[in-house]
This record gives sequence, C-alpha cells and structure tokens, in this order.
Amino acid sequence: MKNILVTGGAGFIGSAFVRYMIDTYPAYNVIVLDKLTYAGNLDNLLPVHDSPRYSFEQADIADRAAVERIVDQYKIDTIVNFAAETHVDRSILEPDAFISTDVVGTYVLLDMVRLRGVERMLHVSTDEVYGDVREGYSVETDPFEPNSPYAASKASAELMIRAYYQTYGLNVVITRGSNTFGPYQYPEKLLPLFITEAIDDQPLPLYGDGMQVRDWLYVMDHVTGIDTALHKGQAGEAYNVAGENEQHNIEVVRLLLQELGKPETLLRHVEDRLGHDRRYAMNCTRLRALGWQRQHSFEAALIETVKWYQANEWWWRKIKTGEYKEYYRTQYANRLKQS
Ligand code: NAD
Ligand code: TYD
Repeated sequence: MKNILVTGGAGFIGSAFVRYMIDTYPAYNVIVLDKLTYAGNLDNLLPVHDSPRYSFEQADIADRAAVERIVDQYKIDTIVNFAAETHVDRSILEPDAFISTDVVGTYVLLDMVRLRGVERMLHVSTDEVYGDVREGYSVETDPFEPNSPYAASKASAELMIRAYYQTYGLNVVITRGSNTFGPYQYPEKLLPLFITEAIDDQPLPLYGDGMQVRDWLYVMDHVTGIDTALHKGQAGEAYNVAGENEQHNIEVVRLLLQELGKPETLLRHVEDRLGHDRRYAMNCTRLRALGWQRQHSFEAALIETVKWYQANEWWWRKIKTGEYKEYYRTQYANRLKQS
C-alpha cells in the first residue's frame, strides 16, 4: 500500500491527478493537502469524494507543523507537489504569496523527505523556468531564465530541490509541464477565461498582438506524464512534459470562437502583460524514453474542453463572483476601456 500526499490536489491539474490515481491504482491511498486558496475548489474532487482511499486535509504547505502532523498521521511515503500560486498576471500584481507558497512551501516539503521518512517526492514545475525561447526547444539541462515573479518562484523551488538532492541525496524528481488546458481550470487562465466570457458574449482581452506562442498540453496527458515520472523517473532528474503543439494565442482564440459559434468581433487587443514571454517550447525526448506518450490531439481536446464548460456552468458561474470579480476588474477594466 502506498500513501500518497497530493499537495494542491484541489486545483486544476492536481485534482485531475487525484481522480486519475484513484481510478488507476487500487492499492494507493491518496491524501490531498490543500490550503483552498481562491484557486482551490472541492467541487473538483467530487468524483472521488466517496472513495475510501481518498482523504482531504486543509492546510498550508508552508506551515511546517501542520504538514508534519499530516505526514505522520497518514504515514505518507510519497509526496506529489502541485501546490502553488500559479497565475503570471497575479504574480505581477502581488508577488508575496508566490514566495511563501512556491518557494518556502516546497522547502518545507523537502524537509519531510529529509527528516520524516517520506521516501520519494515529485515536484510539478513549468516550462516557464526556461524563460522566453525565441527559437529551438528547451531541454532539461538548459539554464533557467525566468522572467515573471511566478516563473522565478518556480525556478527558485527547483534550485532548492537540486541542492537537497546534491547535499542529502534525496529521492526527488521534477516535471516541467507546458501550458495545460481542460475541464476544471480556474477561469483566469487564457482558455477557460475566454471560453466562459465568450459564452456570455463578453469582450476577450488578448494581450498585445496575440502572436505569442504557447505549447498546449491536454490535462490528462500532463497527468500521465507526471505518473510516468513518478514511477519511472530517476532521482535528481527533471522531465519536460510537452504538448508539442505550438500555437499563436490568436489562432487558439479563433479556434475556440469557431467551436462556440461566436463572432471574432468579441476579440479586443489590449495592453500587453509586463515582461510577456513571447514563446515557450520544449523537447520531451527524455520523458518519452520512459515510455510516456500523449493520447490526445489538440483539436479534439479543445472541442471536448469547450463542450465541458458549456455543459458545466454550475461549476464556473459560482466561481465568477466576489474575489474573482474584484481580480477581473483590477486586471482588465482599464485595459478594456482603452481598447
Ligand atoms: P491551480 O492554481 O489550479 O491550483 C493550485 C492549487 O494549490 C489550489 O488548489 C490551491 O488552493 C493550492 N494551494 C495554493 N497555495 C497553497 C498552499 N500554500 N498550501 C497548500 N495548497 C495551496 O494550479 P494548476 O494549474 O493546477 O497548477 C498545478 C501545478 O502545476 C503548479 O505547481 C503549477 O506551477 C504547475 N504547472 C501548471 C501549468 C498550467 O498550465 N496550469 C503548467 C505547468 C506547470
Ligand atoms: P496564461 O493562460 O495566463 O498562461 P501563461 O502565462 O502561463 O502562458 O496565458 C496564456 C497566453 O495567453 C499568454 O501568452 C498570455 C495570453 N493571455 C491573453 O492574451 N489574455 C489574457 O487575458 C490571458 C489570461 C492570457
């Protein structure tokens, strides 16, 4: 029996991982530790709520005493760390929480491996640590050149993981995923924001010229990439999890408008994000060598995703209230006025 602590398991990718692990591995117990910030949502875990192999604990990964209690109580042998502040625009407005969760929180988890008998930890990181990649593809040995406070917080966490591996020989593995999309994604990121706003015929604020390139990865392919690295990855290594599907933002938005049957007149070119990276792109040969393969094509997955938001208004309409509206105003009101 394995007792796996999934931190940040109430968020977008973490909850997909939890649902997948409960379905796929009948011998594993999954314990979710989540602070339930604005991005954490227990609705994401409703499909596993009644499983006897699922437990939930509300806690902050930067709170050492709370994390120690949970690790001891559930005899945790494995940690998979999704917990993070994750939105670049919020990191530009207010970087504080990015330091305490992404950097200090990861350090606390590493100490659980060093001091409390946890046998293995997988840390979920991002292609954004490589920075702006104007040409070619990032490989795992490339230097870090993070450009946003979010990317810098993720890179900092990775540096601490490297140091713990080198110093204490800890059994730690890292994955670096590309831009992920799918059901249950908080509607601040490009795809769920634009899909849900377009459903309501609201303007879609595209930053700058919309010619930035992102590599889109379906959430279930990201999850199986993490699973592969968790079970087969080598300690001290990082593994890129790429969608190998580069698209200009404006093309992605056109596709989703087409799928929704909404007009392109909803598009607004607004003031750009500060320090906006032009392109991310990774090579994922190293993960493929462990046997991982993507199962979803971008077009089919995008259509499924659009359908999911159309069919699950109960999920996103209650999010788009209170704190969300406040954030939306701060981030977009002036931009849209000027467009
Ligand atoms: P998300 O914002 O949807 O969810 C983050 C989760 O972490 C939430 O449930 C939140 O409540 C929880 N959390 C935040 N601070 C916490 C704290 N201090 N203690 C405990 N829980 C806390 O994020 P996501 O998109 O699912 O991303 C998950 C991970 O994957 C992150 O580490 C992110 O950096 C990484 N990642 C995301 C993408 C992407 O495109 N979304 C791509 C590559 C990597
Ligand atoms: P996002 O989903 O925030 O992911 P990331 O910044 O991690 O890549 O943004 C994806 C791309 O879409 C990025 O180039 C910024 C752009 N974007 C917009 O043009 N408008 C928006 O309102 C948002 C949220 C993103």
